[in-house]
Amino acid sequence: MSDSAPGTHPRVTVSGVGGIGEVVLARLLASGHPAGRLRGMVRTEDHARRLVRTYAVDVSADNGRAARGAEVLILAVRPDQAEKVLA
Ligand SMILES: NC(=O)c1ccc[n+]([C@@H]2O[C@H](COP(=O)([O-])OP(=O)(O)OC[C@H]3O[C@@H](n4cnc5c(N)ncnc54)[C@H](OP(=O)(O)O)[C@@H]3O)[C@@H](O)[C@H]2O)c1
Repeated sequence: MSDSAPGTHPRVTVSGVGGIGEVVLARLLASGHPAGRLRGMVRTEDHARRLVRTYAVDVSADNGRAARGAEVLILAVRPDQAEKVLA
């Protein structure tokens, strides 16, 4: 069950910040979703660091950390990657 107060933004994790996931992350930020209530998940540390620099959002290659506390999980990986991410 969500513990967000009414009117606040849910804690969202974008799982897979690649071609489509990066667009989703950027649009959420542009629409006013606070960076502190967004997280991202990628496979590689280098990509995570680049995204942190670009968006000042907590993006991690540690899936457990990225998903912890999420109220909304947006799955934006390729179909063959999904099982590993959801394991
Ligand atoms: N691209 C589009 O325009 C588009 C449009 C509509 C729908 N879609 C759909 O969206 C889905 C994703 O497509 P995409 O083009 O965005 O793919 P993509 O560019 O390859 O991005 C996939 C992302 O998932 C991450 N990832 C892969 N394995 C992971 C794992 N085990 N744990 C955590 N993160 C992992 C990758 O991290 P790294 O970068 O570190 O490798 C990458 O950031 C597909 O189902 C596609 O059909 C895409």
